[in-house]
Amino acid sequence: MTVPLRVGVIGAGVGEMHLAGYSKLPRVEIAALAGLDDDRVRRVAAEYRVPQTFREYTDLLAAPNIDAVSVCLPNALHLPVTVAALKAGKHVLVEKPLARTAIEGRAMVEAARAHDRILMISFNHRYRGDVQWVKQYIESGALGRIYYAKAHWMRRAGIPRLGSWFVNKEQAGGGPLVDLGVHILDIAMYLMGEPRATAVSANTYAEFGPRGQKNWDMRNEASTERMPYEVEDLATAFVRLEGGATLLLEASWATHSTAGDDFGVTLYGTEGGVELMVRNYTHENTVRVFHDVAGAPTDTAPKIRKQGGHDAVVERFVAAVLDGAPQVPSAEDGLRRAEIIDACYRSAAEGHEVAV
Ligand SMILES: NC(=O)c1ccc[n+]([C@@H]2O[C@H](COP(=O)([O-])OP(=O)(O)OC[C@H]3O[C@@H](n4cnc5c(N)ncnc54)[C@H](O)[C@@H]3O)[C@@H](O)[C@H]2O)c1
Repeated sequence: MTVPLRVGVIGAGVGEMHLAGYSKLPRVEIAALAGLDDDRVRRVAAEYRVPQTFREYTDLLAAPNIDAVSVCLPNALHLPVTVAALKAGKHVLVEKPLARTAIEGRAMVEAARAHDRILMISFNHRYRGDVQWVKQYIESGALGRIYYAKAHWMRRAGIPRLGSWFVNKEQAGGGPLVDLGVHILDIAMYLMGEPRATAVSANTYAEFGPRGQKNWDMRNEASTERMPYEVEDLATAFVRLEGGATLLLEASWATHSTAGDDFGVTLYGTEGGVELMVRNYTHENTVRVFHDVAGAPTDTAPKIRKQGGHDAVVERFVAAVLDGAPQVPSAEDGLRRAEIIDACYRSAAEGHEVAV
């Protein structure tokens, strides 16, 4: 692949974050943006000086001289658009979740192999400074063997958009578990060293979304879209991992609780523990470390610099394409998360523990 790498972004919502990332990289030329929401596409294209815009993704893929694309579309479109892009010879960075189900995700991974193209996934929160610090700390051996973890992403009133594709089973594949749980599941599995999940016991609830009250919506405003609310607004799961460790996972869009828009992971190790607690996307004072020092329980709070996010993922994608750098976060990571999430929905439907 030669420099500059010419990229297209498909979808103008979180796609804007991808454009922001690409615009900071000197070896990248932003070539095009596609989206159906004309006003937003126009505004975003002007901000990042995108030379060409399209409505349909098919037109962007047919445009000459585009080497790589970001797929930033509703979840139901991840499979068809990613496969179409790979077939057209593009490398792809797809937004999370990889797809609505593991079956769809597997088809994407296989298409990338068949067409010999790079497929990576945007697990942007993994590249936060605090998550990377905890990863390094774990790799130093300081926690010993991690035998238990708790991971959560809980919102008090944060349904993304009532009436939109987000709340529709067919369009999204699921609710907060697919939307937020996938991020924190990714962080937990990454920090624990990618243990294989063996079994899951889970449940889901839809207590607020179906009532359609706008005070449960993230933006507190009625959407013009009219998709029926068909997904959960809380999911809770107990995941058994190879080697005996377990993981408790929670994800909500709406709860009567102290949560704002909070996520975190607590890791319990034989030699130490770590708590990552991010309230309302803060980067300050998010990590606490627990050890026994000379017989006394001791807590420390490292000062960690803010970094990461979409910029980091986009940079890694470009380095993978141009320099052959490791393809991480990989589509396979996304597929393993999808397999666990599929098992969660299966367990919730059947009312008992299921194998992953
Ligand atoms: N990593 C993160 O932090 C993060 C944050 C938000 C969203 N996401 C993910 O990004 C994806 C998109 O979410 P969003 O919040 O941007 O949604 P959104 O609804 O705000 O935007 C979707 C975009 O897709 C476009 N689109 C839909 N159908 C299209 C088509 N046929 N051809 C061309 N464009 C089309 C829409 O016009 C719009 O520009 C989802 O998979 C979501 O899970 C990730």
